[in-house]
Amino acid sequence: MNDKWATLDKTYLLPTYHRLPIAIAKATGNTLVDTEGKSYLDLFSGLAVNILGHSHPKILKTLHEQAEHFLHISNKFLNPPAITLAKRLVENSIPGKVFFTNSGAEATESLVKLVHKWSQSQGEGRRGFIVMKRSFHGRTLGAVRLTRQAHIYQDFPQPDIPVYEVDPEDVDGLRYWCEHERPAAILAEPILGAGGVQPLPIETLREMERLCRTHGILLCMDEIQTGIGRTGKLFAYQHAEIEPDLILFAKGVGGGLPLGGMIARHPLSEVFQPGDHGTTFAPSPLSAALGNAVLEVLLDDGGIEMGQRHAEHLWNGLHHLKEKHPQVITSISGKGMMIGIRTGLSAQTCTALQQQLMLKGYLIDIAQQTVIRLLPPLTLSTKETDAFISELDALFTQTTTD
Ligand SMILES: Cc1ncc(COP(=O)(O)O)c(C=O)c1O
Repeated sequence: MNDKWATLDKTYLLPTYHRLPIAIAKATGNTLVDTEGKSYLDLFSGLAVNILGHSHPKILKTLHEQAEHFLHISNKFLNPPAITLAKRLVENSIPGKVFFTNSGAEATESLVKLVHKWSQSQGEGRRGFIVMKRSFHGRTLGAVRLTRQAHIYQDFPQPDIPVYEVDPEDVDGLRYWCEHERPAAILAEPILGAGGVQPLPIETLREMERLCRTHGILLCMDEIQTGIGRTGKLFAYQHAEIEPDLILFAKGVGGGLPLGGMIARHPLSEVFQPGDHGTTFAPSPLSAALGNAVLEVLLDDGGIEMGQRHAEHLWNGLHHLKEKHPQVITSISGKGMMIGIRTGLSAQTCTALQQQLMLKGYLIDIAQQTVIRLLPPLTLSTKETDAFISELDALFTQTTTD
């Protein structure tokens, strides 16, 4: 606990976040160290950003090399690290082109604008999005219109974008909106992250694709949390073997630096023309260079497979805990290193559990009040997993269900 930094934080930063009272001094591997020297195993990796943990040698090497070349050049020039990264992303997803942003929400904004311009050009009166209940797509004005979280303040001036909301389990509802309204696009997270780590069944993703093709609707996947190898494929939609029209990515791609974007399938890739959209900073050449290093580790050095092996060990441990503590763990959902442990605990007990774990040196996240959300780095070792599982076991043994 660091009272000095906590007080300064409260004094000088807008209170937009519930923070854990830990001031970070250093991070190495999968461990954060606070200003008082206490170590914590980071089981949500900077909210799904630090996919390779901290201080990965390839990331540090690339960081130094690119910093010696140039940090920023503006979009007036050709940007080799960004072009290389775009090529790699396209070659490993859909045939198309990339628009880079600095964050996830900005990626969503670019999608909102592209879908709008595309639907205008079709002249069929299609407008707006079908989105999932409990989805999260960001907090800027366009993105927050598509975000469906009960606890997020939404009473802002709303862009004129029709939104059709459907429960992730309600395939009939999905069909209804496609057949009875004229949405321009379906936007979905293959696994709802902030919505409680709820995977969309493979059949639902395939039905989405079928409906989109039948009705001339764009299929858009928000892979901002699920992407970049977290679920065992570069993008989670790939488990369903579907072909989206637009893909959003961010978080893990920049190796810890801000970077996001959208991949647009041909011919959607030609919808934006000069002047239609842009930003000064993105893609930062430094972030893009790190992106290339991340993809090299994931795709060339077996990083995704390594993550899968580590994830399997973690899932085995969690299943064992579920058998032992059925009153605490009601179900486990997710894929790979994106895991939701649904608990039978009250929101208050869940928060207390998070605090107890923090005191023991383990950092977890809570989604939808009672779901323990784990977003560990792919580098989480079996030793680290075993230590975490045994700590959870001890805490669950003491925990009484409410
Ligand atoms: C699925 C999803 N979409 C969009 C966003 C917004 O990204 P950012 O916080 O970088 O704006 C997030 C962030 O958590 C996310 O998980």
